[in-house]
Amino acid sequence: MTYKVQFMDTTLRDGHQSLWATRMRTECMLPILKDLDDIGFYSLEVWGGATFDSCLRFLNEDPWDRLDVIRQGVKKTKLQMLLRGQNILGYKHYPDDILTKFVEKTIEHGIDILRIFDALNEVRNMKKAIEVTLANGAIAEGTIVYTISPVHNIDKYLKTVDELVGLGCQQICLKDMAGILDPYHGAELIDAIKTEFGVPVHLHTHMTSGMGNMLYLKAIEDAKVDIVDTAFAPLAMGTSQPAIEPIVATLRGTKYDTGLDLEKLTKIAGFFEEMEKRYPESKLVNKSVDINVLKYQVPGGMLSNFRKQLSETNQLELLPAVLKEVELVRNDLGYPPLVTPSSQMVGAQAVLNVMTGDRYKMVTNEVKNYLRGQYGRPPGEISDEFRKSIIGDDEVITVRPADLLEPGFDKAKKEISEYMEKDEDVLSYAAFPAVAEKFFEYRQTGKYKVDFSELKKHLENGDEGVHPI
Ligand code: CO
Repeated sequence: MTYKVQFMDTTLRDGHQSLWATRMRTECMLPILKDLDDIGFYSLEVWGGATFDSCLRFLNEDPWDRLDVIRQGVKKTKLQMLLRGQNILGYKHYPDDILTKFVEKTIEHGIDILRIFDALNEVRNMKKAIEVTLANGAIAEGTIVYTISPVHNIDKYLKTVDELVGLGCQQICLKDMAGILDPYHGAELIDAIKTEFGVPVHLHTHMTSGMGNMLYLKAIEDAKVDIVDTAFAPLAMGTSQPAIEPIVATLRGTKYDTGLDLEKLTKIAGFFEEMEKRYPESKLVNKSVDINVLKYQVPGGMLSNFRKQLSETNQLELLPAVLKEVELVRNDLGYPPLVTPSSQMVGAQAVLNVMTGDRYKMVTNEVKNYLRGQYGRPPGEISDEFRKSIIGDDEVITVRPADLLEPGFDKAKKEISEYMEKDEDVLSYAAFPAVAEKFFEYRQTGKYKVDFSELKKHLENGDEGVHPI
């Protein structure tokens, strides 16, 4: 069989999460679903990550309804989501009963592929999600998050992949959330995974450092990467994924021709370009190369947080010191990859260390809990001396953190009984209690509605206009 790279379109998830602060509303997605479905993408990433929180918090939308609407509009293409393993879509570990129910419901509502990751590449924190995904007939895309450190090398990644494949993951995602994976190391790692395990590899990167397009080309030519993540041009580049249009044009007429219709793609890009005007968030976007990412290897989101935080206290001149401190804190903590939630943990501690001028004089609860083993096993060693200096003789757990959690579904159900209309409400509440409650109150006013008849009309007429639901 001739090799052909496939694409996952991230426009409706990571694309707007990276560039429009996750603010795209369901009504704006609806008129383009049929066109997206007709392109021939491997999958569409439409759910998970920050979209769930954002729906409830900022948009007064029910994320479960969004998924239903998208599933109704996308008949042929697989739908994909991003799941933070035992953290589900939040920042802490959830009990197994809530995670199980969440994954079951997710699949019931139409997700075909779950990209499952853990910030520390701790397979024990991904295991339950993988098992439930497989038990419900969906595809479990086991993930390794890519980072650069003295303890991360090809052998370590292959060991993680081995465990993920052993659990039954049908494919592996190489997740470069910071855009720091360079083309040569990327192709080498993908080739190693494919050669050793024979599983499809799905590559995810961000254009923050400017290397993404080159990474994809190299991964296609040298490693026959199976799937790459792209977005439509208006929601691509900068801190988002590479744009699909130039990649399709690059490969056209070669032995790597994607077979995708550039004309159809540009039509959809035009739709999103028009849509951009509705989102003031898009005006703040800087799509140029951020050399600091190359220099300090921290994700773009972290950089912009630092800038915001330091400028609020008129201390922007501390930025270089904070970025240096990030590396030192990572070293102390055994090199956790910088991805949610460990990026927030490392970032907050680095800022404290620099601002107080006295390292670890003040320590965040997150760092303390991390040192107590509550995030799982750190990738590298942590010295006993350092650990003791922060948490004294506190117990350090060695079991899977979620093993220590009591079941939580029934308790959450009781707590929101006055609002509850369906089981999914309990899951929304368990994930984001205050935010979900606020949404439920709004829903009770009767202002919230999802109108499927409008969607049907779009699908029947091939209507291109944008209408609210
Ligand atoms: Co991403």
